[in-house]
Amino acid sequence: TAPAAVIVAIDGPAGTGKSSTSKAVAAKLGLGYLDTGAQYRAITWWMLSNGVDVDDAVAVADASVKPAIVSGTDPAAPTITVDGLDAAGPIRTQEVTSAVSAVSAVPEVRTRITELQREIAAGAPEGIVVEGRDIGSTVLPDADLKIFLTASPEARAARRSGELTGKEAADLAATREALVKRDAADSSRKTSPLAKAADAVEVDTTDLTLEQVIECVVTLTEAAMAAK
Ligand code: DC
Repeated sequence: TAPAAVIVAIDGPAGTGKSSTSKAVAAKLGLGYLDTGAQYRAITWWMLSNGVDVDDAVAVADASVKPAIVSGTDPAAPTITVDGLDAAGPIRTQEVTSAVSAVSAVPEVRTRITELQREIAAGAPEGIVVEGRDIGSTVLPDADLKIFLTASPEARAARRSGELTGKEAADLAATREALVKRDAADSSRKTSPLAKAADAVEVDTTDLTLEQVIECVVTLTEAAMAAK
């Protein structure tokens, strides 16, 4: 018989290596992969593109049901489209990054995106690694394994600026400041804030290489798969 689908939730703030780790673990173990931050970025991009004032929570709530957001869950080539348009590039712009915390704090947005996430997780035949901020605490409280990745703000800013190019990368202090501000907003919002689930395994990645973090999460996931 086919092994039961394993559900892995990986949460934590920006710059802890969540995406790189989640993708690598999913690819290695033959699981699907879902980047829930990309979904919040996608709905934010749609709001900005369609003239919705992202600081007007009522307008954002009203518009939240309009865009069709579709995620491809192959860890080797994850995709995201909004109303059929490829959103992979546009969701990484500074404009979207600056607006995403406000949009993702709106309860109607979270309800909409959480529904999508649960549908995708339930439909993954081999199982799935889902990364975000509230996956273990709210979206998939029955996940087989919950991991909470942390790292010092300095380490996170250094990693994030490594992903940026040119002038943005040069300004490490500004990167650190923007990141700390976004985490504070994500952690203090009323609905489903960034939080470590009580039963999550915390992994501090400050002094670990990406390879070491991947190895650690692979080991934990294999144990969760064996226990099913
Ligand atoms: O992981 P990321 O930096 O791409 O996420 C972008 C934003 O989306 C993040 O600042 C907060 C929001 N987010 C969220 O509220 N809940 C999630 N599960 C994932 C992301």
